[in-house]
Amino acid sequence: MSSDVRSSTRHADGLDTGSPAPPAAVKAENVTRSFRVGSQEVHALQGLSLEVPSGAFVALMGRSGSGKTTLLNMIGALDQPTTGEVWVNGRPLSRLSDNQLTRLRREEYGFVFQSFALLPILSCAENVELPLRIAGGVSAKERRQRVEDALALVGLEQWADHRPYEMSGGQQQRVAIARALVSRPRILIGDEPTGELDTKTGQKIMRLLREVVNREGLTLVMATHDPTVEEYADDVYHLQDGQLIDHFTRSPGTAPLGGSA
Ligand SMILES: Nc1ncnc2c1ncn2[C@@H]1O[C@H](COP(=O)(O)OP(=O)(O)OP(=O)(O)O)[C@@H](O)[C@H]1O
Ligand SMILES: [Mg+2]
Repeated sequence: MSSDVRSSTRHADGLDTGSPAPPAAVKAENVTRSFRVGSQEVHALQGLSLEVPSGAFVALMGRSGSGKTTLLNMIGALDQPTTGEVWVNGRPLSRLSDNQLTRLRREEYGFVFQSFALLPILSCAENVELPLRIAGGVSAKERRQRVEDALALVGLEQWADHRPYEMSGGQQQRVAIARALVSRPRILIGDEPTGELDTKTGQKIMRLLREVVNREGLTLVMATHDPTVEEYADDVYHLQDGQLIDHFTRSPGTAPLGGSA
């Protein structure tokens, strides 16, 4: 982490097990990203470093335009830094070929966005199955099982045959989360996944994401404007003008919902 970030630990009674830390799921070092807009240069990220431990729930907060989506795009291998490097499970993304990046996105990542982007003519189960059909290489039987598992994870077993328009916003976002989980990713990336939901439903989705992280041992990095994320996240980073200005971290053994983080 860069030295100018204020870092603090809540619940400072954490247990020190003495075991070596597992490798970071994601590591960003001195990442910058600039965009040319006409004759102007926009510096969306200005030398940002962070480490996301494997199995952690990490939240990115900050005002509109502070660089959250730009950073998620770097971490998710959807865009490349202007300078600096991003490592995923120890692999520097700049050294991966386009094919390797595509495989990484398809096999190791799940993405959840603000808009659920479900296909209205498909049932809930068919929407969840879609990424597996597109990727290919998974038998129909295996696909059925994975869809069932993913729907069970988000508590929608009974809704498999329903269409999105028959479901509430919160349920639709749960379908979108199941769709992100169906490929059994190691890293889940969320860009304001509760942004279109009312406060109460947003809380439920946040809680569900925390449960999924605990149960599946996934790593979650999500951008949000909802400050209650601090109740659920292990690490909360605050961005301002493309830089990290604050970092709160939770001690091991104090994860919410009795988790394993
Ligand atoms: N493709 C692009 N071309 C030009 N400028 C861009 C592009 N993408 C992002 N920016 C600029 O980079 C800055 C950071 O944008 P970003 O979308 O990362 O912010 P954000 O924190 O996600 O905001 P929000 O909370 O509104 O989603 C902004 O000034 C934005 O205008
Ligand atoms: Mg954004």
